[in-house]
Amino acid sequence: MSDRAPLPRLAVLCSGRGSNLGAILAAIDAGTLDAKIVGVFSDKPKCEALQLVPAALRWSAKPRDFADRSDFDQALGDAIAAVRPDWIVCAGYMRILDAAFVERFRGRMLNIHPSLLPRHRGLDTHRRALEAGDREHGASVHFVIPELDAGAVIAQVVVLVRPGETPESLARRVQAQEYRLYPEVLRWAVAGRLHERDATAVLDGHTLFTPRRLEFAE
Ligand code: GRF
Repeated sequence: MSDRAPLPRLAVLCSGRGSNLGAILAAIDAGTLDAKIVGVFSDKPKCEALQLVPAALRWSAKPRDFADRSDFDQALGDAIAAVRPDWIVCAGYMRILDAAFVERFRGRMLNIHPSLLPRHRGLDTHRRALEAGDREHGASVHFVIPELDAGAVIAQVVVLVRPGETPESLARRVQAQEYRLYPEVLRWAVAGRLHERDATAVLDGHTLFTPRRLEFAE
């Protein structure tokens, strides 16, 4: 019998390709993230992300089969609660979550967003960063609050915009950094080093007045 503590449990929410989920699974496989995926949850039953885990770990439903957003989010929340996660990890989940859902998991739910928040909340961030003439762009991991992309930012990676950059080239470069950023923040989370207190992020007991900036070689 093992005397090791049970692995921290992650529930992951996805709607698309699942490349961030893939990076999290790779970190777990490599032994650099001591955690276990206990479910992958989606509003898109056919999304690629679901295929990355065994069928027993998949949950999905179509929002149009529910009376309204709150009904769907209640069912999603009940399915998540049933797997008893320690952390809820939004990784390309493209549907707005209602306030009751967010409050249910408040302080335990993270999201990755492809911009240097608070710049460029919402969609189409790479194009908007180029149109704004930004010299720096990147990605952020933040706590989820009811207001979209507005929760306390924990950590960011910066990508310097190059001459001739397109939204597609920038997206590729930012995403490559996301695959390093998210597992790193999850390491802090599962080690009990990360908390949300009074709407700010706290790491190792210190309030993060500005997000941690992480650097990974491109
Ligand atoms: C990522 O760029 C992430 O920042 C954003 O949605 C995208 C998800 O991609 N929230 P994937 O599904 O992880 O490949």
